[in-house]
Order: sequence, then structure tokens, then C-alpha cells
Amino acid sequence: MTLHRLDEMRAGGEKIAMLTCYDAAFARLLDDAGVDVLLVGDSLGMVVQGHPSTLPVGLDQMAYHTECVVRGNRTAWVIADLPFGSYQQSTAQAVESAVRLMRAGANMVKLEGGGWTVPAVRALAERGIPVCGHIGFTPQTVHALGGYRVQGREESSAARMRREADELVAAGARMLIIELTPSAVARELSAALPIPVIGIGAGAGCHGQVLVLYDMLDLTPGRKPRFVRNFMDGGASLEEAVRRYVRDVKAGAFPDESLHGY
Ligand code: KIV
Repeated sequence: MTLHRLDEMRAGGEKIAMLTCYDAAFARLLDDAGVDVLLVGDSLGMVVQGHPSTLPVGLDQMAYHTECVVRGNRTAWVIADLPFGSYQQSTAQAVESAVRLMRAGANMVKLEGGGWTVPAVRALAERGIPVCGHIGFTPQTVHALGGYRVQGREESSAARMRREADELVAAGARMLIIELTPSAVARELSAALPIPVIGIGAGAGCHGQVLVLYDMLDLTPGRKPRFVRNFMDGGASLEEAVRRYVRDVKAGAFPDESLHGY
């Protein structure tokens, strides 16, 4: 998988199937099952490490999990999350942290937020490091956002998202994740932007979908977001569940338009 191919998929209307992934065994399984993009998400802080949020995850841990995923993967595009505290201080810090994850084998790095992140995105893009933005609900700022809440419901907040997306694209972002956002807003952004837009809890109008692997495999204990579908339903094997996810994303059968939001 290449950025060029992902751009072609966007342009040709082929949906992009992305899942989070944290280790070599799942990387091989997901790649074999046809997942286009593996996201080494800092959600590993919650689903692997058992923390209540993604904030405690450090750069060393992200580099370690990126290396594990890259060893198991053969063809999928690999994105690694810049964790909380690894790009907030300066563009120099963002570049140093991104270099670390690229050296671990990532094809692209992802960072959360718009506005203040623009200088860092530009610095990375200028240095040949592909960047994925992440707007809407941003888990690293869960406390400032007042919890797991849909973003972009009010017109002012939707307008801010449009502005942030345009600025990220102008700064050189090559992909964008939109989380927990009304589907009309995500659909409009996806139609307007010249880069692949991947949704999570943002309806069916994006160019692709991402879910936290452990959520869609029903491994996460407790309450799950409403937009998550249990692909293990009916006793599927792990591989069958992932193949179902890829099939449903590609066919536009996931997500169910009515089930976004928590
Ligand atoms: O860390 C993660 O899993 C993510 C997804 C929620 C997009 O950033």
C-alpha cells in the first residue's frame, strides 16, 4: 500500500478499511484479511495497558508497538500515533518524535488537533514525513473537551472543524481522521477535501472507516461506543470477523448511518 494508491482509492470511490493494531500477530492477520491501513493508535494505553485514557502512553511505548506491527505486516500502510506530550512543546519536538516513529518503521505519523498543530504538520511535511491529522473528538484532550462528546453539533463548532481541516491540508497533511462528529459534517468535509478522510463515529460519508480493533472484536470490557459493531457476532473466527469488517466497509454496509455518537 502506498499514499498514491490510497489517493486513488479516494478518487475512485473505493472505501479504505483501517483498524488499529498493536502487535505482530494481529498485524499479519489484519494484513492477510485485506485491511488497507494499520493504525498503531495510542488507544493501546486503554485497551492493552488498561489506563482510563490515552494520556499516559509515552513515545518509547509507541515506538515499541510500531516495531512489533511492522514486523508482522507485509503490505498494509502503517500509521503511528504521536502520543500526548511528544509534539505539544515545539515543532522541533514534533520532528524529533516523528523521526523516532518513522525509524521504528511507520509510513506516516498522526497527531491530534487543528490550529496550534499547523506549524508542526508543516515542518513534518516539508521534511518528507507523511502526516495524518485527527479532528473532531480528540482523545488526548478528553479532559478539556469535558468527556467523550460528539464534536461539531453546533454550527460554530462545525465551522471550526472546516477551518481546521483546510489549514491542515494547506500545511501538508495527506490524510485526516474525523472522530465522533455528526455524519452531515463529516460527509461535507470528505466531499470538500482533496485527501482521504477516515471516519470513526462520523457516519458513512467518509472515504474510509477506522475502529479500535479490540472494540470490533468485542474484547473491550464494559460499555462500548454506540457506533461500534461486534464483528465476532455469531461465533466468527478472528480472521472471519476482520474479513467481514473489510467487506462491510468496502460495500458501505458499515457504519450504520443511524449509529454514530456515544
Ligand atoms: O488511538 C486510536 O485508536 C485512534 C483512533 C480512535 C482513531 O486514534
